[in-house]
Parts: sequence; structure tokens; C-alpha cells
Amino acid sequence: MAAPLQAVEPAAAGHLRDQRLLIVDFGSQYTQLIARRVREAGVYSEILSYDAGIEAFAAFGARGIILSGGPESVTETTAPPIPDGLFDLGVPVLGICYGMQAMARHFGGQVAASAKREFGPAEICVRGPSRLLSALELNAQGGLPVWMSHGDKVVSAPSGFRVTASTDSAPVAAMEHEQAPWYGLQFHPEVTHTDQGGAIYRHFVHGICGCDGAWTADNIIDDAIERVRRQVGGDKVVLGLSGGVDSSVVAALLARAIGDQLTCVFVDNGLLRKNERAEVEAAFAPPAAPSNAPNLNLVTVDARREFYACLSGVDEPEAKRRAIGETFIDVFEGVANEIEGVSWLAQGTIYPDVIESAASAHGNAHVIKSHHNVGGLPERMALKLVEPLRELFKDEVRAVGARLGLPDSLINRHPFPGPGLAVRVLGEVKPAYADVLREADAIFLEALRAAGLYHQVSQAFAVYLPVKSVGVVGDARRYEHVIALRAVETVDFMTARWAKLPYDLLEQVSARIINELPQVSRVVYDISSKPPATIEWE
Ligand code: XMP
Repeated sequence: MAAPLQAVEPAAAGHLRDQRLLIVDFGSQYTQLIARRVREAGVYSEILSYDAGIEAFAAFGARGIILSGGPESVTETTAPPIPDGLFDLGVPVLGICYGMQAMARHFGGQVAASAKREFGPAEICVRGPSRLLSALELNAQGGLPVWMSHGDKVVSAPSGFRVTASTDSAPVAAMEHEQAPWYGLQFHPEVTHTDQGGAIYRHFVHGICGCDGAWTADNIIDDAIERVRRQVGGDKVVLGLSGGVDSSVVAALLARAIGDQLTCVFVDNGLLRKNERAEVEAAFAPPAAPSNAPNLNLVTVDARREFYACLSGVDEPEAKRRAIGETFIDVFEGVANEIEGVSWLAQGTIYPDVIESAASAHGNAHVIKSHHNVGGLPERMALKLVEPLRELFKDEVRAVGARLGLPDSLINRHPFPGPGLAVRVLGEVKPAYADVLREADAIFLEALRAAGLYHQVSQAFAVYLPVKSVGVVGDARRYEHVIALRAVETVDFMTARWAKLPYDLLEQVSARIINELPQVSRVVYDISSKPPATIEWE
């Protein structure tokens, strides 16, 4: 993937959000990816649902609008329409897949439902002059490899529009209006399988919408610092630092913005990965910190006893999550109350969280697992919220963290659930089980890193199964517990494929775990994808 946040023409932070694009969401799985591609081109973008209302679209003040794909068929009467008045806003519009079909329909073109869905790679043939596609480099056959994912297709472009590309199965793979800046693409330039998809978005936002590239990591940092200073003034702020990417980046950013007005609280709940506490302390607390790392007030609380007490006798996954959430609030509140005059709580909420809660407010999202966060804290402690990453995607958060001097091991690590090892020890959590799991997990991750595979998978970990199995180690019978290994590949963690790790590596990890951990008699590898299985076992 191209380096995130690379500006084409870096501009000053002054108008970081003045030049912005609006993504109108029709429900595509790729909508967030479109917003990210626009931002990678250096331009701020936000997503609004197609039914947000034309007033909201107008008020947003976009320099250009992109209509996303979507799962519906424009041939159905219930299909979401192009919002009334959208083309009167006077800015360029680019429709992707469903967005193009809805646009074609809107202007009187013909869209046909097709019995078979076209999904996967295809090659488009660019036809004639195109303001959007002409600058692309085509392959020797004059084609451009793209990614298709559609059922319906536009069979005749509306009057005033010209067909600018086609494929064997899609006569109108791209179209654009003869005069107005209205464009449609049947394929998905936002997915990496579309060669030069990034170039298409860059050309749209810079060449067609006339934006320059102010949205860069440096400008985001300057802007966030200024906004945080304005927001909190001289007040004190407290942050729950988990060691995950988001809270680490908030810590680094706030340290830069408000220095010792910030106190970070790191709770050792006894459910952390191996060496996690030491790594966080090294990254944030002097003197071990590298010279450009943030230097901040860090309070580490040893709350292992409280967490194990709250988990005692609890074996139902959601009950475990609730118990941990409540204990976290108790512990955190206890420490924060000791810091005099705190009036703000900082949180590492990021843009996908904001989009997700908007979707669940619409009733579009199902809660499969209640994800642990510090919800409830601000009200209980009467604290105001400061959320400096609220507008950022994960890759932007990482880029900001890197610019702020955080070590790669913190920024590019796999996600780790808030309840930690508690959801990886199945059933009731006991300290002895978590200790074994922590070691097995470390062996697995170490082997992945050594094989250069850690970053090839999206998440990998061990799970402790509290069932006993017979084994024979040396000449002795061993009747002990089972460790499952899990490694998945995913883009968004909503769906995931189990990773086809090399057998040699699995063999080596299994041997090490059984040899080094006498409490384990057997190691298994999880070959379930999501759906139907979830990534975590609980
Ligand atoms: P599932 O298991 O739902 O996991 O497929 C999807 C992603 O979410 C993480 N996860 C959690 N994260 N609190 C968190 O902060 C939780 O309770 C929780 N449960 C799952 C999981 O690690 C994966 O990345």
C-alpha cells in the first residue's frame, strides 16, 4: 500500500479542513477505504449517510463528492436514491459502482439487473478522451487492471454522458459528463487490486476538485496540538494508557500539547501480554525513553489482585467483560481522584469508532461482543472528554505516532482486546492459567517475528483451553491443558481468514510450547474463519 498521508503538494496547516471531500455512503464495505484514499492524497474527507439530508451535505462545504458503492440494486424501488439537490451543489461528483448506477439512473440512463455477480479482477479498456482517466499509464494491451464487485450494470449511459471505459461484460465501466464534472466508475479504485487506483483518486481530488495537500501527519499534529490547547486551557487531563496504539498516540500528542498538565494511568490488571508493562514504561517514562520520545507523568497501578478477585467464579464471556470494565473504572477512578484538579479525561476514540456508533444509532450495527472501553467514566467522575484522534483513521494514527517518536513496536503491533488475556483463558480465569498462556503466546509471537511473518498476519495469539488432554513427553505420561494458536488475515476485523502459516513454523512453535511449558500437553491450530467464528474465542 502507498505510504499513508503522503501529500502531493504539501500546504500549510492553516486550512487543514477548509478543502474537504464528502463521501456519501450507500452502505458499501469499501466506504471507509474511499475516505482513506482521499486522505492519503492529502485531503480531509468525511463520510455521511446518503439520507443525512441535503442541508447537511451543503453545510459540510465539500470541494467534491464521492458516491460510494452499496449492496442494493438501483432497479428495486426501495433502493436508496441520489439525494435531492446533490448535483446543484456545484462541485465535482464521482460515483463508484452503486454510486455510478444511481447517477446513471438519476439522469435517465439504463441500468440492468444481472443474474450473475461479477466479483474479482477485470481489465478495463479506456475509450477516447477522458478527463478522469486519460493520465493513467495503461498496460501493453491498452488496458488497466481493476477490481470489480457488482451485480447490476449500466447498459446505456444517460444523455450528455460519454462512455470512457468498458470491459467484456460491462459496456459502461466508466462514464463522464461531456461538460459538467460528473464521473462514474463501475470498478473500485479504492482497493489495492485496482492498479493506479490511488492515482485516480489523487487526480480527482487535486486535478478535478482543485484541492491541494494540506492533510499531512505534520499538519495534523500541529492542528491537534492547537485544538487541544484551546480546548483544555490550563486544566489538568488524565488518560488511561493501555499500551495499545490509540491511547499511546493520544499520550504522545497530549504530552507535546500540554506537557505536565497530563497524567497517564497505566493499569497492570494481570491480563497483559508478556513484557507489556515494561515496554510501556520504557516508551513513556525516562530515563529509558529514546531522546525524541514523549516524557510524561506516568502512574502505573498494580491492580492484579482486584482484577483476579472480580473474575473469580465468573466464566461467562460477557460477564467477564462486564466485571473487567467495572473494575477498570473503580481502579482508574481511585487513582484519578488522587490527582488534584483534574477536569478532563482523554480518550483514544478514532474515526471508525465514531462511524460505528453512528451506524448503531441508525440501527445498522449488531453487537456481537460488547467491546470494553471506559464508557461510563466521564459521567461518573464528572469529567469532560478530550478526544484528539476522533477524526483519524488507524493508519493516520500510526503515522502521527511515528512522527511523535513512538517506537515501531508500539505503533505497529497487533490489536489486543481491552479485557486482555481474560478472553483468551476460556471460562474462569485463574492467575496460573494466565501465566501459562502469557508464555505460550510469547513463544508464538517470537517465532512469527523471527520468521518475518508477524506483519503478514493481522492478529496472532494463543488461547488457553482449560480441558485436559493426555500426552507423552520423554517417557512420562502428561495429562495437562491444551493451547490453541490463532492467526488471522483481515482488513477491517469484521471478516477474517485464518492464516495459512507454514507447517514448519507451527511445528516449531508447538514443540517449543510443549517442551518449555510442563502445564501444556497439546497444541492445536485454529482453522476457522470469521464468520462464522469470531477472531477471539470468547
Ligand atoms: P472478534 O472476536 O469480535 O474480534 O471477531 C474482532 C476484533 O476485536 C477485538 N476484540 C476486542 N477488543 N475489547 C476490545 O477492546 C473486547 O472485548 C474485544 N473482543 C474482541 C479482537 O481482538 C479483534 O481484534
